Amino acid sequence: MYNLKSEEFSYLSLEERERERQHHEMMEDQIIKQQQFDVVDKKRQLEIFNPQDNIDNPDVPEITKEGYLIGKNRFYIARNFFDKSHIEFCLHMFKFQEQRKQYYREENIIQENYDDKGAFLDNWVSKGMPFPNYGETLLLMYKEKVEKLFGLRLKPTYSYGRTYERHARLLSHSDRPSCEFSATLPVSFDTDDGKPWRIWARGDHNFTGLTGKTAWDLSMGKPFRSRHKKAVPVDLWPGDALFYQGSNVIHWRERLVGNSARQIFLHYLHEDGPMYRDFPELMYDARPSIYHGSGSVDMYKRGEASKFLQNQNNYKYYANVSITDPATGKPCGKGHEKYE
Ligand SMILES: [Fe+2]
Repeated sequence: MYNLKSEEFSYLSLEERERERQHHEMMEDQIIKQQQFDVVDKKRQLEIFNPQDNIDNPDVPEITKEGYLIGKNRFYIARNFFDKSHIEFCLHMFKFQEQRKQYYREENIIQENYDDKGAFLDNWVSKGMPFPNYGETLLLMYKEKVEKLFGLRLKPTYSYGRTYERHARLLSHSDRPSCEFSATLPVSFDTDDGKPWRIWARGDHNFTGLTGKTAWDLSMGKPFRSRHKKAVPVDLWPGDALFYQGSNVIHWRERLVGNSARQIFLHYLHEDGPMYRDFPELMYDARPSIYHGSGSVDMYKRGEASKFLQNQNNYKYYANVSITDPATGKPCGKGHEKYE
């Protein structure tokens, strides 16, 4: 019988690992301080959105316990949220699109990578399906159920279907304005170990508008053992969903060790937040209606809104600020006191 201590088969001793962990933690503190993710200008914050506006408005619902939790952690895992038969329906729709080649072939999903550039592993590893009929249908059909779960009112923007193939990965990022309030849900997975393909989420700061490089440094660029408890791996089965503040949460997937994983993303705006108030054109992602396709996006309108929000450091004062206070990082939805 072997009786091995971890040091005997590990490259790093426990002391070395601890030193490495502390080093990464220090580097990370520096990045977070430098980037000033969290809002410090309270006056400006209140000029853009004052929570009192929602408290005074009788049409704004009170948040639920789940609404409080998604305010606190910036993401929330809902098990068995989607009807299995709807997911099965979507699986067939995916297969039609794949067979008929109704997709975009995509390599690096979200920005450039920072490790194996030029190694060709990232070539053609996903099939992207913008605004698919099945996704837009879920976006509509489940809007009310999502609103009830969190005690929030939402406006649909768009959905996306994606079939990831072997070696695909989703590089870490936080999303553009149209993805303010989002869900990702698996339709199927065929992995070598039979387990779900993990998505990672990190929501301990207000990560609106961060660059790909910074996102990398705070997530995928670190060894798993140095990610601490701030980055959370989430395993989802068909029917489950991860709801997350798309604009504010860093999210990513490590390389897919498996043949395929099919995934749907649903995106909404918070109806009672300043983003929808000031940029209502982002509804339907700047299409005339949910039934219009990707070709009808008013790129000018969408671009202007995104430019204003992302280029002038405004984004952090807008995205999800009526769910999570961007200055304190604490839940601020109507009735949050109940759950404190
Ligand atoms: Fe995303």
